[in-house]
Amino acid sequence: MSLLIKGGLVVTAADATVADVFVDDERISLIGVDLDVQAERTIDAAGKYVLPGCIDPHTHLDMPFGGTVTIDDFESGQISAAFGGTTCHVDFCIQGQGQTFAQALEIWHAKANGKTLIDYGFHIAVTDLHDGGSLEELESLPEQGITSYKLFMAYKNVLQVDDETLFQAMEVAAGSGALVMVHAENGDAIDVLVKQALAAGHTEPRYHAATRPPELEGEATNRAIQLARIAGCPLYVVHVTCKEAVDPIRRAREQGWRVWGETCTQYFFVDETFLARPSFEGAKFVYSPPARAKWNQDVLWNAVRTDALSAISTDHCSFLWDGQKTLGKDDFTKIPNGGPGLEDRLKMIHHFGVNEGRISLNRMVDLLATQPAKLFGLYPRKGTIAVGSDADIVVFDPQKRETLSASRHHSKCDYNLYEGTEVTGAPEIVLLRGKVLVENGELVASPGVGRFVRRAKFGEPLAAPAEAVAS
Ligand code: URP
Ligand code: ZN
Ligand code: ZN
Repeated sequence: MSLLIKGGLVVTAADATVADVFVDDERISLIGVDLDVQAERTIDAAGKYVLPGCIDPHTHLDMPFGGTVTIDDFESGQISAAFGGTTCHVDFCIQGQGQTFAQALEIWHAKANGKTLIDYGFHIAVTDLHDGGSLEELESLPEQGITSYKLFMAYKNVLQVDDETLFQAMEVAAGSGALVMVHAENGDAIDVLVKQALAAGHTEPRYHAATRPPELEGEATNRAIQLARIAGCPLYVVHVTCKEAVDPIRRAREQGWRVWGETCTQYFFVDETFLARPSFEGAKFVYSPPARAKWNQDVLWNAVRTDALSAISTDHCSFLWDGQKTLGKDDFTKIPNGGPGLEDRLKMIHHFGVNEGRISLNRMVDLLATQPAKLFGLYPRKGTIAVGSDADIVVFDPQKRETLSASRHHSKCDYNLYEGTEVTGAPEIVLLRGKVLVENGELVASPGVGRFVRRAKFGEPLAAPAEAVAS
């Protein structure tokens, strides 16, 4: 199928030019002014932005966590992503205790199989290098397109690894071509604070934030940076929330060290006071690291503007408020950690970032598409509008007004973090490899069209096409 997208403002991380984009089959084959080509379908994009499909490098679909399982599986999560202009994501495949990485990957491939609407890859979340996965197996994963290892420095007795495991994985990554990702909070110290809070009878959601202070995020961030430096691996710090963590990342980057950080949409908008909302509503905002004091929101905008932080993800990890979050009604430690947001990232960052003058349109594309593609081995097939790239494209109407709400979103989650927020600017047509996924508010593709992507090693370009069948 050929497609001509005519006269839109084609926006990349570097440029914004009114042009036509010609898509032949799955890829972009021509970009130019007033292209003289025949196409099976022409989309008039005058007055619209033509953006690369966004990439979410941090999601948790169909993930067992906190005594339950995230409510969005690959189908509902990816439908939600597609409506929000996200055409590729990298989900966390969690190694269970005693499991090999191959066993964990088999489980995650099965979760996705037949349900996919957008392209996807997997990070491996390393939880055990003793009884299940071995260093040798970890080293072999980049050859299968699993080119990022995630380690949790928090969630004691659940996902947390000790520094020995973290450092060993970093040494493996230094040789295997993988990027190490860390959830940077000091889980041991948090565990002490949590026990003290419970002993004092503090059971409400707001104690989730009170027992995970920003200093413990800063300490773990700095520790990971120093360990990565000794191991010689590249490091990516996920869901950065506060000055205490931004500062060491900025300093490392100023030194030219191979360190990057992301923040997530919610940290710009939700602050610690949300957790104190009455009638257990605060539980909707329980995720880790927690929402911070409001002034950190300016720190984060400044960090993404100045490239101290290089990407914005969603950390979509959605649980129903009614029935899942309520598991922690009498004890905040039993509230499953995580929130929704896959669908809202582009609209929220466009409205409050670009429309309100905090970042440029180019920087928005960089943060939501190009940097995630470059850091996670997807570029230049994905993350930009260029000849030869996959035709993952969002025709975005910068004038369209929407009110974000759980009653309208496509996630199965029964609440929206941004309920009632009015935004101007929303996707109108979303294409995956030249195929229309979403048009004028309707899903027009069927599950199964999304493909597993074997990602390139860190720093290498992705040349291979997305696979037809998960493996
Ligand atoms: O609370 C969160 N963020 N849940 C998802 C797991 C993680 O830490 O990323
Ligand atoms: Zn995390
Ligand atoms: Zn996460």
